[in-house]
Parts: sequence; C-alpha cells; structure tokens
Amino acid sequence: MAVSHFLPSHCVMRVVFFSFLASCFFIEIGFANNEGITRHYKFDVVLQNVTRLCSTKSIVTVNGKFPGPRIVAREGDRLIIRVTNHVSYNISIHWHGIRQLRSGWADGPAYITQCPIQTGQSYVYNFTIVGQRGTLFWHAHISWLRATVYGPIIILPKRNESYPFVKPYKEVPLTFGEWFKADTELIISQAMQSGAGPNVSEAYTINGLPGLLYNCSAKETFKLKVKPGKTYLLRLINAALNDQLFFSIANHTIIVVETDATYVKPFKTDILLITPGQTLNILLKTKPHFPNATFLIMARPYQTAPIAALSMKKLPLFKPNLPTLNDTGFATNFSKRLRSLSSPQFPANVPQKVDRRFFFTIGLGALPCDQTNQTCQGPNGTKFTAAINNVSFVMPTTALLQAHFFGQSNGVYTPDFPTFPSIPFNYTGTPPNNSFVSNGTRVVVLPFNTSVELIMQGTSILGAENHPLHLHGFNFFVIGQGFGNFDPNKDPANFNLVDPVERNTIGVPAGGWLAIRFLADNPGVWFMHCHFEVHISWGMKMAWIVTDGELPNQKLLPPPSDLPKC
Ligand code: C2O
Ligand code: CU
Repeated sequence: MAVSHFLPSHCVMRVVFFSFLASCFFIEIGFANNEGITRHYKFDVVLQNVTRLCSTKSIVTVNGKFPGPRIVAREGDRLIIRVTNHVSYNISIHWHGIRQLRSGWADGPAYITQCPIQTGQSYVYNFTIVGQRGTLFWHAHISWLRATVYGPIIILPKRNESYPFVKPYKEVPLTFGEWFKADTELIISQAMQSGAGPNVSEAYTINGLPGLLYNCSAKETFKLKVKPGKTYLLRLINAALNDQLFFSIANHTIIVVETDATYVKPFKTDILLITPGQTLNILLKTKPHFPNATFLIMARPYQTAPIAALSMKKLPLFKPNLPTLNDTGFATNFSKRLRSLSSPQFPANVPQKVDRRFFFTIGLGALPCDQTNQTCQGPNGTKFTAAINNVSFVMPTTALLQAHFFGQSNGVYTPDFPTFPSIPFNYTGTPPNNSFVSNGTRVVVLPFNTSVELIMQGTSILGAENHPLHLHGFNFFVIGQGFGNFDPNKDPANFNLVDPVERNTIGVPAGGWLAIRFLADNPGVWFMHCHFEVHISWGMKMAWIVTDGELPNQKLLPPPSDLPKC
C-alpha cells in the first residue's frame, strides 16, 4: 500500500510536439566578465483565477502566472528578487537546489531560515549562484502553497563558457505539476485533522496544462512545435507535490546530460524517472524527415497502487510505452546509470575521508488519535505521521536560523537529533507492533567543514515506499544504494567514490537504503526532508546546523534588515 499515493483515476498526462518553438529566449544586460552580473526580479504574490478541466478556482501565483515566471541567469550572477505578499496566506519562496553559500537567509523554507512573509510585507532574496549551471526551480516553501507557486530557474554557463555537449538549437523548460480541483490548503488541513491520507490531485500537468487525454482538457495541452533534424535541450523539472514520474517521448531516444544543475556522463534512454524536487536536462534530436507527425510526450507516476484503466480515443499519434507503475527494476537501473561527468573542468569532489557517520531510518508511522468522541481516519483509528529516526519534526514558531545566529536556541530547538536509531529493528522486515513515533524540533550540529556520510534506510512501517529526500544548502554524492537492510560490514566495499552522481534530491529505494556523502562547508541551518509534500506535512524532515568556520569567508553573513518577523 502506498498510503499517500491513492491513484488518481487519470494517470497519464500527454503532450504533443510538432514543428517549431519560439519561447526560450533571454535578454542579457551587462558586460562579459567572469564576475557575473546582478539581475533583478519582482515577484508579486497574488491570487489569480485559473480554469483547468472545466472548473475555475482562485489560486496563489507569482505575478498572476501559472506556472510562475522563469528566472534566467548565468553561473556567477547575483539575483535580487523582491517578493511582496498580496494574499492572505503567509508565504516564503525557496530557490530549490541553489547552494546559498553563506547566504542562508535567502534559502526560504518557512520557520527554518526565515519567518514567512506576512500579508502586505516584502522580503528581498539576495544571493549569488556559485559553481552551478543547469536547471533548478523555485517554489513556495510553506504548507502546500507550492502546488501552484513554482517556476523554473535556468542557469546558463558563464558567458565565455559552453556546454560540455552539442549546442542545442533551442531550449525548452518542461515543468511537471499536479492540478487539484479543490483548494490544496483545505485538503491538507482536513487531512491533518482527520489523520487520513489527503485527497489526490485530479491531473498531472506539463507547464501547467493537463493535456489532451483528460476530460475537458483538449485545449489545455502543451504543444512543442519542433523543426526536423535539430537538437533541443529539454529542461525537466518535477514540481509535482506527491508523485515521482516516468517520462518518455514517443519514438525518440533522449540523452541525459545534467541532473540537479550538475553535469553527468551523457547516456541514452527512452524512458526516465524524475522525483519531486529533481531536475534533469535532456537532449532531444528530432527526426530528420517526419512531416506533420505528432509524437506524445508523456509521464505517469512511479508508485505501487494499481492503475485505473484509461479509455483512449483514437488519435493519430505516436504514443510512448512507459514502465508499469511499480517498476522498481526500471527505477533502480535508471538511477544506477547516473554518473558525474567527472571531467578536469567539472570534477566530482567526493569526500574521501569521513568525519561523522549517520544512519537515518526514513518511514511512516502513527500518532495516537487526539480527538475526543471520534476515531481518527489513519491506520487502525490513529493518525498518519512520518519520521526520520523515529522523530517526527515539529515546526518551530520562530525561524531556526535566527535562533541559531542570535544564540537563542532555548525553547526553539535541541541539538540532539539521533545519529542512529535508538532501537534498531529489522527495518525492511515485518514491521514492529508499535509504530508510534516521537515528536520534537531536534537538529544535528556540525562543525564547519565536517565531512558527512549518511545512510538513509527506508522502513516498511505502514508500507515500504520510495522517498525523495532533499537536502538544502548542499549537493551530495550518491555513493551507494541497495535493497533490504544496509549491511555496514559488506555494503561499503561497493561504494562509488570515483564518479557518483551529485544531486540535491534522491529517491531512497522502497524497502532499501541509500548512502550519500557531503562536505558541510556552508555555515547555516539546512533543512532536509522528503519532497513528497504529504510526508513533509507528517513530519519527515529535520535540520542540520553548520557552524561558522574560522576565516572571515567561512562565516554566515548577517541577516538582511528586512528579514520577516514571526
Ligand atoms: Cu524543494 Cu525544502 O524543498
Ligand atoms: Cu516520503
């Protein structure tokens, strides 16, 4: 059972592409140098009426756009983004995957690095893109507002540098999302009340459009017209709330060249897998001669629930074949093919020595029902929850970064997040009878420049599931993975310390484990959580605090004067 993943009755989104596209251009001001330039953006958070699947609702957007505006910059540029909140919800924006070196105040997760921006208030996010190029994205980072508040971040190489692959003819972002007919804030607050899994979305979308195979959606299809015999760079972003997606283009093999804004060794595939929080750049070579043909671009979830039958109209289309919903074999092989480019210009700086080792269990759990005179709707009358090392994270009411910076942690957080499970058990075997977890705002404190090895062990409590774990403030190297329980005596021998893929989000295999390494060279408070929104709501999250180093350039910068107050 995949608790969070009751399958929507629609499970396929389709998109057409034919002959030519003219939307990815960008205007550059400033001079060619290696320092980069400063780019200004204005983000006004406003409500907007949007119609999808024949029903209209008012959604939270940036500048009235859905999906939101693109941010385009070059490696080395500074971004200054003024966010003004004109809606009744509190808001904060996260620049997902941006390393935020010493600029943690601009990272964005509400109550972690900042208090949210209140109605009528503004906050200026100010940060520089250092040593990253490729595709990332931005999204709201409070409650479920990211359901509609998201958009691409496109980081081009420095002006005098080029891609380590063939220069594309055109570049196109393809952002995957989910569309809910109901108000997503209502969906999650009701689910948290009742203890049940929240309702699922009505459609998957590409660039905000559900596609032609949903009812009442024919006009809401993203179409990409392409020219024959050209190479297109497609920038894939999974901004869906709760689903990993398989992706394929009919009759085409694509080449994967980048993930999470780091280059990989290019490899060919017909199908790929992308989890929420991940980005993938792929090259698509169009057919040399194929007039008036239409090929479907298609995605569908990777999960364990059974697929609902889909009635398909006769369409003059080429349709790709996707793996079955629960094709863990495909998922595993695909993730194993991803390797860092690891070239002289773009080396894989995998930490070779380890200062501190951590072992985190990642899984669901239950909370006793707290309602008087009624039963909760989670497992056996309890409430669903989720935890890391059996701790379900409780959001503080003030920002952790402020508490840390001003030395006021008392009553906000405790620096005692467990390094290992306090009671080891057979993680992937028959789950223990007691699946209750503890609550707390507990963090790990790491001295500057600590090199960390972290094993993330999925558990089978209330069903084994794949969890896309995301780390703020760092890229990590994925040095190993496997099924069953991690074996500390046997498994490290197979770790890849040469060219492991470098990412900010990685799926911990269902009923398996994953090993990562990172160097804690970025002072600040860094959130780590599953990128399934429902699991974040249930507490599958924690934070790392990295202290300042000795040198002036190893210290967190002071907070900006307009930092929001709680
Ligand atoms: Cu895209 Cu904290 O997440
Ligand atoms: Cu999860």
